[in-house]
Amino acid sequence: MEEKTRLFGVIGHPIKHSLSPIMHNAAFKKLGLRCSYSAFDVAPEDLEAFVERCRENNFSGFNVTVPYKEKIMEYLDSVDENSKLINAVNTVKLEGRLLVGYNTDGLGCVKALGEAGEKIKGKRVLLLGAGGAARAISFQCVLEGAELMISNRTMMKAMDLSKEIKEKLGRRVLVVNYSEKSLKDIMPCVDVLVNTTTVGMHPKIHSSPISMEALRKEVTVMDIIYNPLETQLLRNAKKKGCKTINGVGMLVHQGAESLRIWLNTKPPTEEMRKAVMEKLG
Ligand code: ATR
Repeated sequence: MEEKTRLFGVIGHPIKHSLSPIMHNAAFKKLGLRCSYSAFDVAPEDLEAFVERCRENNFSGFNVTVPYKEKIMEYLDSVDENSKLINAVNTVKLEGRLLVGYNTDGLGCVKALGEAGEKIKGKRVLLLGAGGAARAISFQCVLEGAELMISNRTMMKAMDLSKEIKEKLGRRVLVVNYSEKSLKDIMPCVDVLVNTTTVGMHPKIHSSPISMEALRKEVTVMDIIYNPLETQLLRNAKKKGCKTINGVGMLVHQGAESLRIWLNTKPPTEEMRKAVMEKLG
């Protein structure tokens, strides 16, 4: 009998611009697997029904993106420790009829940093932002032994996140005022800066979450935004002489870690990156 195609996908709303199908289908091709990955735009009122249908159909797993990373947890049978910490899921695996949630966002970011030569253990990492992406990345940074600082426009959100990390992991996270002066003052104590805010994302490509004056050449600057590939922040950082890392690495590695969970195999990250880069031009 012919082997059935295993189905994977990503759910979100909207989802039109997702690069995940291109990236994962390139990986399946390289691995020679009979698998297919599609994007599903699921309206909020259809989320539960969609998840239930996944159990019945030939689904093996799916990614979850904005705005469902938290909401999806209500419909899963269990979630791993990491997702519990972050309180969000970006990867679901079907184990028989059971739906199990994982989160690979933070690990994807740390792997991308590592690949670029930034092992963060013992490093002083300043995160800009305290939204969903920042949550995943901050817990992973602390778990990997970084000394974390967080700065966010809405300071209360940074303080809440810092408090939560202290409660859950017993580690202190410094909250830095999101002002020109405070950011400039703290910069001599920063090894790695990671932008997790949406500032600089298409279409507002000329804004930066931090001024060029506040940067120092000793700091490695990563932006998790990949559209555009080179954000204003990264352009400024390059001018300043900083080492820079764009958002493609995190995109590829969070996807690669999802694949590892679904297939239990080493993901072909170079093919995944190539597929993404072809699309992003
Ligand atoms: P994501 O899931 O991508 O993390 P999010 O949860 O909506 O998105 O978080 C967006 C982040 O970008 C937040 O930290 C937000 O700051 P606030 O908490 O103050 O809203 C930050 N952000 C968005 N627009 C910003 C702006 N114009 N200036 C500074 N920070 C901004």
